[in-house]
Amino acid sequence: MKTKTVLITGGTTGIGFACAKYLLNLNYEVIITGRTKVNLDKAISDLGNNVIGILSDTSSLKDIDNLVLQVKKQFGTIDGLFVNAGIFKASRFESTSEAVFDETMNVNFKGAFFTVQKFVPILKNPSSIVLNTSIVVFKAFADTSIYTASKAALESIAKVLNIELASKGIRVNIVSPGVTESPIQKKSGMTDEAITNLLEHFSSTSPIGRIVQPTDIAPIVEFLLSDKSMVLRNEKIVVDGGTTL
Ligand SMILES: NC(=O)c1ccc[n+]([C@@H]2O[C@H](COP(=O)([O-])OP(=O)(O)OC[C@H]3O[C@@H](n4cnc5c(N)ncnc54)[C@H](OP(=O)(O)O)[C@@H]3O)[C@@H](O)[C@H]2O)c1
Repeated sequence: MKTKTVLITGGTTGIGFACAKYLLNLNYEVIITGRTKVNLDKAISDLGNNVIGILSDTSSLKDIDNLVLQVKKQFGTIDGLFVNAGIFKASRFESTSEAVFDETMNVNFKGAFFTVQKFVPILKNPSSIVLNTSIVVFKAFADTSIYTASKAALESIAKVLNIELASKGIRVNIVSPGVTESPIQKKSGMTDEAITNLLEHFSSTSPIGRIVQPTDIAPIVEFLLSDKSMVLRNEKIVVDGGTTL
């Protein structure tokens, strides 16, 4: 008997993958999505037979509709949704292109917004939604203006959803990671040297003396998805090892 059924968008690498692994170990039924087939295939092979993997581009409303249909067909309803899929493209404010603006907002905000909207009909009463934002929402970093806007927009809707979806027994909370070692840095186009410098900087300036790992985020997400957080609404848990203190 499975504990709960949860879907993780962007569960193929990094934080989403670590959460999938953690939840599977706790006997959750886990569905992961991703945009890149090779990464999805690798994640399924690493996580084992228990995981359900579905290729779905979160910036495509058609893909989200298909995803909901597939999940509904196989599971009927689900207990939790970790809205995690996201991208980061480092870009100076003065040279941020329309393409980077649109791609970032389409994945990080529009995709997240419509994922939540379209999953509402198949979320159980009670159920839990966890939004993955970032410390950039409250601490300024150069070259992150559009990324910051996308995460601030996502965070801003949590309180409204908690009011509008309360009668359906849906609660919404936020996990806000600090700089976390994951494939996002390489995917963003950073050089290996720039990645090493970034990770060394955040390791040496952190009270915990190391960089945050995706495995540090997983138990927090599990807490927010589980009944242990049943009375929490719009709570934001910052998981940054104290770097923003
Ligand atoms: N790492 C950090 O420092 C950090 C800090 C704060 C917040 N976050 C947030 O944490 C989340 C996960 O990031 P991560 O660090 O774990 O990075 P990651 O390893 O690159 O993981 C991102 C996941 O999202 C998926 N994804 C990207 N675009 C997608 C799309 N259009 N449709 C569906 N899936 C898509 C990726 O799939 P593909 O295999 O197709 O790429 C991957 O599974 C993001 O929302 C990120 O903004 C990260």
